[in-house]
Amino acid sequence: MANLKNKIKSLLPRRLNYWYYLYTAKKAVNFDIRRRVYDKVYNISAAEKVKRDLTLNYHIVEKGLTMPVPRPGFGKQVVIDLCRVVLRYESMNLPFSELEFSQSVTVLKEYAAFHNEIGFELDKEVSDSLAKIVNRFDNVHGTHQIQTTAKEYFKAINAPFDAFCMSRFSVRSYTNTEIPMPVLYDCIDLAQKSPSFCNRQPTRVHIVKSPHKKEAILAIQNGNRGFGHLAETLIVLTSIISVTKDIHERNENHLNGGMFAMTLLNALHFNKIAACSLNWSVDNEKDMKMRALLNVPENEVVLLVISCGYPPESFKVASSPRKKAMEITKTH
Ligand SMILES: Cc1cc2nc3c(=O)[nH]c(=O)nc-3n(C[C@H](O)[C@H](O)[C@H](O)COP(=O)(O)O)c2cc1C
Repeated sequence: MANLKNKIKSLLPRRLNYWYYLYTAKKAVNFDIRRRVYDKVYNISAAEKVKRDLTLNYHIVEKGLTMPVPRPGFGKQVVIDLCRVVLRYESMNLPFSELEFSQSVTVLKEYAAFHNEIGFELDKEVSDSLAKIVNRFDNVHGTHQIQTTAKEYFKAINAPFDAFCMSRFSVRSYTNTEIPMPVLYDCIDLAQKSPSFCNRQPTRVHIVKSPHKKEAILAIQNGNRGFGHLAETLIVLTSIISVTKDIHERNENHLNGGMFAMTLLNALHFNKIAACSLNWSVDNEKDMKMRALLNVPENEVVLLVISCGYPPESFKVASSPRKKAMEITKTH
């Protein structure tokens, strides 16, 4: 039957085939788009959305606190917004025990303490907002940002899997010591052991060492301010769409790439290389710029950028605590 279908398809004029694929693609993709648009417009799951806003904002502050050189007074508007969202969360009578809330309060307290310590006078609007949070919520405790050394950070690279896995963090501090290509190839070979759909291995790797290309990529990526320029290497992951068969396999490029990226991050960690994923959630214009810079063919999608380098002797990492298994799991 499948053979017959393929035979008929091959006999059809190309134009007809094109319209057939476009029709099935629209039908499938609309289904997904509708759910997303519905969620944005009609879904009033206010608790999820307020927790999302807490996380988005506290993460920017924890990143700022762990930059190679934190900029005094950084993130003014984010801090004000975070204080506001914390108070909104409280007014909704949601539990203080939720990670998003406890971490937001802790990060704001750290922000105030950091500026106190360096004797920096914060903008009045910021200090007024902080005052509403810092002296309240005495019983709310999250995790603090981590000061570490390269020796301490890599001490579990030969430990059993659980210790190894828990020891990796996103690192946003790098030296300019060159990462040799053979080491990067070793890491990529390990990442290649990641499973892929029918072993089709769609992920491709672009190693970027050229200073002007790194700069151009980082200029259009929106999550590397304060540390991206230190990266000795950028790794750009792409994936070949031609290895998918029909539109129902459309998520496989990103899914397979995600699995590949995780193994790659662990492989870099195993090789004592500090790394941080950098999102590629960009508009078409930026995507086109990246394609032009790296000569990415039309049948590949760009998935993710990873900044990396050997770390300095001492540095900070954001604690980025996780919810517990029981909080994210349903048993059926
Ligand atoms: C797909 C993806 C995109 C990310 N994008 C960024 C980014 O643009 N900038 C950044 O500093 N970190 C980025 N991160 C790193 C996350 O902030 C980090 O993984 C998260 O806070 C968990 O912390 P951990 O990696 O230290 O365990 C990204 C991570 C992933 C998985």
